[in-house]
Amino acid sequence: MPFNPIRSARTGAVAPEAVHHPVFARYYARVSAGAETRMGMGRVRERLLTGLSGRVIEIGAGNGLNFAHYPGTVSEVVAIEPERLLRQLAVEAALRCEVPVDVVPGAAEALPVKSEAYDAAVLSLVLCSVRDVRRALAEVRRVLRPGGTVRFFEHGRGGGRLMGSVQRGLDATVWPRLCGGCHVARDPIGALREAGFALGPYRRLLMPERGPRLPTSYCVLGTAHRPLD
Ligand SMILES: C[S@@+](CC[C@H](N)C(=O)[O-])C[C@H]1O[C@@H](n2cnc3c(N)ncnc32)[C@H](O)[C@@H]1O
Repeated sequence: MPFNPIRSARTGAVAPEAVHHPVFARYYARVSAGAETRMGMGRVRERLLTGLSGRVIEIGAGNGLNFAHYPGTVSEVVAIEPERLLRQLAVEAALRCEVPVDVVPGAAEALPVKSEAYDAAVLSLVLCSVRDVRRALAEVRRVLRPGGTVRFFEHGRGGGRLMGSVQRGLDATVWPRLCGGCHVARDPIGALREAGFALGPYRRLLMPERGPRLPTSYCVLGTAHRPLD
């Protein structure tokens, strides 16, 4: 079944069980592990996380492929993951890594953590999949301390007019259903700006770097900050 939001009428919270994609989760667990070396994803994850320190929250951690790349300067990672199978794999990955990682069920739109509790938030291939980007980024802003950092690696719209219409067509038809709620025509940079983050340096890159351009190839890797109040 595709994404089926179950929102509490009282709190507006999205139940983590609402993200239930067992087939996609199994597929993602297999291909993402291969992409670490085959597509150079391991190197990108390293760049995404290098230099981070303090308390970190990772949103939609999947099977935990980022965990091994957190530097020793990070004191604690809280990794939010709503999908049950991916969360189990993330728990196993957490046991193997050096930095303390606590894997927690939850959804980006209603993060189950205190306000202003984190020095950094990590968004890695997740803004494409959340049900409500605006709400998810408002939550990221809430849980970051003023001046806190966002590290992001996201795919989104790109590649000119033809690719743009292919991406929009996919989003309106099969893609989200086949790929666990993923969309290929979102604009992560615009969304971060709209959510009130101050953008730091970011770069656009293609994944894979060589070979055919896919609707998911147009990526951005960079940093943003919650402004000081
Ligand atoms: C393409 S996977 C990326 C996983 C991981 N971040 C990575 O870099 O490999 C997308 C992830 O977003 C999660 N996700 C989907 N909807 C979500 C939501 N509303 N809140 C938080 N995570 C969500 C999925 O369960 C999945 O783990």
